[in-house]
Amino acid sequence: MLADLVKRSQPLASDAKLLVLGGGYSGRCLASLGRALGTPVLCTRRSLDADEADLLFDSNGQDHLDPAALEGVTHLLSTIPPDREGNDPVLSKLLGTLRSLPLRWAGYLSTTGVYGDRQGGWVSENDDPAPELDRSIRRLNCEQDWLRSGLPIQILRLPGIYGPGRSVLNGLQQGRARLIEKTGQVFCRIHVEDIAGACWHLMHHTEQGAQETLGNGTVLNRTVVNVVDDVPAPTTDLLRHASSLLGCALPQLEQFDEILDSMSPMAQTFWSENRRVSNHRLCQELGYRLLHPNYRVGLQDCLNQDKLNASDLRSPPRSTNG
Ligand SMILES: NC(=O)c1ccc[n+]([C@@H]2O[C@H](COP(=O)([O-])OP(=O)(O)OC[C@H]3O[C@@H](n4cnc5c(N)ncnc54)[C@H](OP(=O)(O)O)[C@@H]3O)[C@@H](O)[C@H]2O)c1
Repeated sequence: MLADLVKRSQPLASDAKLLVLGGGYSGRCLASLGRALGTPVLCTRRSLDADEADLLFDSNGQDHLDPAALEGVTHLLSTIPPDREGNDPVLSKLLGTLRSLPLRWAGYLSTTGVYGDRQGGWVSENDDPAPELDRSIRRLNCEQDWLRSGLPIQILRLPGIYGPGRSVLNGLQQGRARLIEKTGQVFCRIHVEDIAGACWHLMHHTEQGAQETLGNGTVLNRTVVNVVDDVPAPTTDLLRHASSLLGCALPQLEQFDEILDSMSPMAQTFWSENRRVSNHRLCQELGYRLLHPNYRVGLQDCLNQDKLNASDLRSPPRSTNG
């Protein structure tokens, strides 16, 4: 629950102001955390009719973000994915404006896809990226542009994101889930609240600088941080756990080799890479404590929040005149 994150997080300095470029699923979660902790937040969306749209920013649109609206922004997170050519929409349109801000921390949400296939082995930030899929090559290109931007950047590499309204529980309930078994295949994941929590933790930590020099002169560079939970696991494990939480039947078991040809090209790419991504830097070196360290804890939270959200929708609107 976000309330748990709020309880254990410290506010930023009183002059801090947060800009979230792309108030989608992860961006809105960070915005909610910031607001709950008393930091003024500005969230961009591609339509001003969207939830929590404070400012309009669509890199393909005609309207330009007014630099005056961003005055005093000290922290920023970009969640906006690369464009089709592999360019970063934020850097293409806003780099000059961002450079003029008194920024203390800039976060960029990337993907662990930049590591490519590791045949089930562990991979950390110390390993060179080796993207194979076009979308991961585009992503690495954007990471490199952010690293060259001159902004106080930290790259957060994310695996599959889940959370309330967006988990295998919902897939099972809606009859969309498929129980596919592929020997040795695991996936990593992160609960959306831990993305917000990690961003907040890194903002505080960066007050000490993204680089740290140890007593023996070793320089630790933390400009890239994996944000993943502790337990890479097969999707079948998640679905089995989800079905027991919901008390519902599992879909029929399918063997990967038998259905590969009938899968969409996109789904095939999803299954073509296998890696265990380490969170040692985030959790040991930088001291972040995961709110949802594994899918069991995380799915229980999703179930609780989904139930609360459903009951909110069913309740009649509260009277405002007592
Ligand atoms: N979903 C996953 O499992 C996963 C895994 C690893 C990494 N990632 C990456 O992590 C980031 C956050 O993921 P998410 O699931 O929170 O993303 P999301 O909900 O899709 O949010 C993306 C945001 O980017 C904005 N956006 C997209 N194209 C834009 C453009 N051309 N100009 C301006 N704004 C644009 C969207 O605007 P609107 O709000 O108007 O839609 C939205 O606010 C994304 O970059 C995603 O690719 C996702």
